[in-house]
Amino acid sequence: MTYEWNRRAQRKGVSAVMSARYPSYRCEQESQKYVNAVMDFIGNDINDKDVLEIGCGIGRLTKKLILKAKKLTCLDISQEMIDRNKAYLGALASKVDYFQEFAQDYSPNKTHQVIISSLVLIHNIDDDEFYKLVKKMSSCADEIFLFEHTDVACQVSPFTRIRSVTELESAFYEYEVTKRSEYKIFDDSISFLKLVRKCPNSCRNGILNEMDKEKNETVLNMDVSKDPLNRLYCQNILLN
Ligand SMILES: C[S@@+](CC[C@H](N)C(=O)[O-])C[C@H]1O[C@@H](n2cnc3c(N)ncnc32)[C@H](O)[C@@H]1O
Repeated sequence: MTYEWNRRAQRKGVSAVMSARYPSYRCEQESQKYVNAVMDFIGNDINDKDVLEIGCGIGRLTKKLILKAKKLTCLDISQEMIDRNKAYLGALASKVDYFQEFAQDYSPNKTHQVIISSLVLIHNIDDDEFYKLVKKMSSCADEIFLFEHTDVACQVSPFTRIRSVTELESAFYEYEVTKRSEYKIFDDSISFLKLVRKCPNSCRNGILNEMDKEKNETVLNMDVSKDPLNRLYCQNILLN
């Protein structure tokens, strides 16, 4: 996989991160539109936050994210992609922390506030690596922005695996979708999803403290959320 992405990083311009099925003469313009739509969707939700970008590629989003985030960390398995990302950002690259590794193996010494993942899950074909990645992402931040192909009828390449919105939602079962939108790039549908953890780490830590002080009864009476599933979920965490 690393070899393949290093090879793709040699492609000209944005074709390094876009499907070879797309007509190359329109890619630059379509990519620009996509980036603008992604940034519109994110809005001010990452302003002054600690953000983790997974699969940062050549930096078409990184360059915008760095202008809003307080802190930006970028992961990619391909060093060639990271090199292109740095070159594209120029002086701004010095503000970004880059890590060349599988996101599945990332072990930060702290959690981030928000994760941005654009067109990455689709390339993690095996269920094993997909769920490992979901688990890693779920351990890293309370908010996740996903931008993914979700039109399962359009499965076109053996190197990709399109998962439906329902599949994504159930994989990220710790989160609820608080905002969604559909985007079309050429004939492909891309879902834009904002996921927010049902029981944020801060709430979970608060519960654990309460539990230390007053044992189980206090926790079970806490108004963790009006949503009974959410409540159940938080209680399960405590029991595990
Ligand atoms: C299609 S590109 C998208 C790049 C960027 N997110 C964008 O939208 O422009 C996918 C990127 O994710 C990286 N990638 C895929 N799977 C990864 C994983 N498991 N861990 C880290 N990077 C990964 C690839 O190396 C590639 O740079």
